Amino acid sequence: MDNNPVFVTRPSLAPLDEYVELLKGVWERGILTHDGPLVQQLEDELCKKLDIPGFMAVSNGTIALQSAIKGLALKGEVITTPFTWIATISAIKCEGCVPVFCDIDRGTLNIDPCKIEPLINERTVAVMPVHVFGNPCDVGAIENIAKKHDLKVIYDGAHAMGSTFKGKSLLGYGDITATSLNATKLLNTAEGGGCIAKSPAIREKLKRIRYFGYNGYREIVEEGFNGKMSELHAALGIVNLKYFDRVLADRKIKYNLYRDALSLISGIEFQAVKHGDQNYSCMPVVFESEEQLLKVEQALHGQNIYPRRYFYPSLNTLTNILEYRHCPVSEEVCKKVLCLPLYREISEEVIYRVVDCIRNSFAAKRKLDRNRKSSVSL
Ligand SMILES: Cc1ncc(COP(=O)(O)O)c(C=O)c1O
Repeated sequence: MDNNPVFVTRPSLAPLDEYVELLKGVWERGILTHDGPLVQQLEDELCKKLDIPGFMAVSNGTIALQSAIKGLALKGEVITTPFTWIATISAIKCEGCVPVFCDIDRGTLNIDPCKIEPLINERTVAVMPVHVFGNPCDVGAIENIAKKHDLKVIYDGAHAMGSTFKGKSLLGYGDITATSLNATKLLNTAEGGGCIAKSPAIREKLKRIRYFGYNGYREIVEEGFNGKMSELHAALGIVNLKYFDRVLADRKIKYNLYRDALSLISGIEFQAVKHGDQNYSCMPVVFESEEQLLKVEQALHGQNIYPRRYFYPSLNTLTNILEYRHCPVSEEVCKKVLCLPLYREISEEVIYRVVDCIRNSFAAKRKLDRNRKSSVSL
């Protein structure tokens, strides 16, 4: 049995020689950054692949979110989910807006559209839902609410590359979708991200924001920052994109292996996928209790296997940096969600080792519960 540590993920990487081949051109041209030819090639290839009108590559997903907020000139309250990575919230705050937490749906783990409207007031400017673990939000319901209240929609699609809604790339929805291309994502450029905007004028504006607010190369016409992606990162994206379909297909097989095996253990639930097709980017499981989760986590650590508690704690409870707003579903469910190792090289043997470990810790707990009950009734 291989006893190397098993982490929650590993980056999907194309063969090294293909990457090196692209780097030769970088060395020849002497262009390392600044809307270089490889950045443009990556953007064009992503547009074709995803059938979207434009993809603006940036340095990371957090900057993609900030660019989106700046691009839409938002100032005010942004309704978002507490069950997400801190980047969603830090981007809102860094752009001078106020995050307002809306509770999530217990099944999908995404923002609950039914809970958005009561949070809307005269200060509300936008909704920023997250397609959590690549699971499509209820895009139709969210668009209806936004239209009714004249709000912008920015999707945090950090996890959503490869997910679809109504047969189209999920990244094409909302006024803008911001995605991440960091090392843990299905398509990675090591660090990176991108914005997909509906309006051509906003797409132009986003490009200016990416380059310090310059209009072309001479005049600063608005506020911006350095959001540029380098040629080295773009090169990695181009070679990795060639293998993207294989990565996606492989994840689906492995996700289903886990799911079929774990379904036989009562007390385990899965994220509900109701509004489109997910990309199997993560393997989240929902346990009966935090106690159960901690037992499983400890047992897996004992076998050199390291799942991750994405997303814990619920961000509305971070009162050192944010104002508390009650979100009971997120606060409860975040204690029970554990993401199991899932990546291209993970073997069936390791998947079954993870499943066996979970099954054994459930069996141990049931035995303990039975013993406790019988000692109480004595
Ligand atoms: C939901 C979510 N939003 C935003 C980000 C930020 O992306 P990046 O790490 O590329 O800045 C992440 C990162 O994983 C994320 O999980």
